[in-house]
Amino acid sequence: PVRYISNHSSGKQGHAIAGALAAMGAEVRLVSGPVTISDPSGVSVTRVETAREMLAAVEGLLPADAAIMVAAVADWRTETESDQKIKKEPGKGAPPLTMTENPDILRTIGHHEKRPKLVIGFAAETDDLIANATAKLSRKGADMIIANDVSTKTGIGGAQGVMGGDRNRVRIISHDGVEEWPELSKQETAERIARLVADRLTGKR
Ligand code: CTP
Repeated sequence: PVRYISNHSSGKQGHAIAGALAAMGAEVRLVSGPVTISDPSGVSVTRVETAREMLAAVEGLLPADAAIMVAAVADWRTETESDQKIKKEPGKGAPPLTMTENPDILRTIGHHEKRPKLVIGFAAETDDLIANATAKLSRKGADMIIANDVSTKTGIGGAQGVMGGDRNRVRIISHDGVEEWPELSKQETAERIARLVADRLTGKR
């Protein structure tokens, strides 16, 4: 009830994409983990706390024309949860934590019988950005991966910079190749992604 394991993420980029699509006239359903930012306007929001809840909520929203998976889902959770606070006992050291795998939501949706026509994932990488993101494209059954460099050397200030910050620099990886976008605000990045989604759905790109 006191401690938990999670990933760094503010939700800013995902919320901005939902808002940008709604502003273009799309009917948008946003499934969001715990965030401190306010809901984007014109968007119906479902709140979840765990990866399993997020998967159930997303599956419950199918069919859809497009799915854009921006959440920094924790790949693992602890195998057991304690009802009571696990107390620190002097001299006993740290308790061992046994982890178990969470469902991969993007991969499930990418291979789903009700798969949306357009499935977009994100990838946060510290090394071999293009190779890792390209591998994710096939592994997860996505049409496009929007990749972030979160390394401290070449990314925007590392994970702490992109995750939580207001700016982003992404590369768009699809079966057509790699497109590099300049560093932009998350709002501008969201607007470009929304236009890309519209173009893809209408066959313009
Ligand atoms: N993702 C997901 N469910 C998970 C983990 C990730 O749906 N359990 C989605 C994210 O929303 C993102 C994409 O998969 O769109 C890539 O996430 P990332 O964490 O970069 O990839 P992983 O699958 O966790 O791969 P790795 O940890 O090996 O980089």
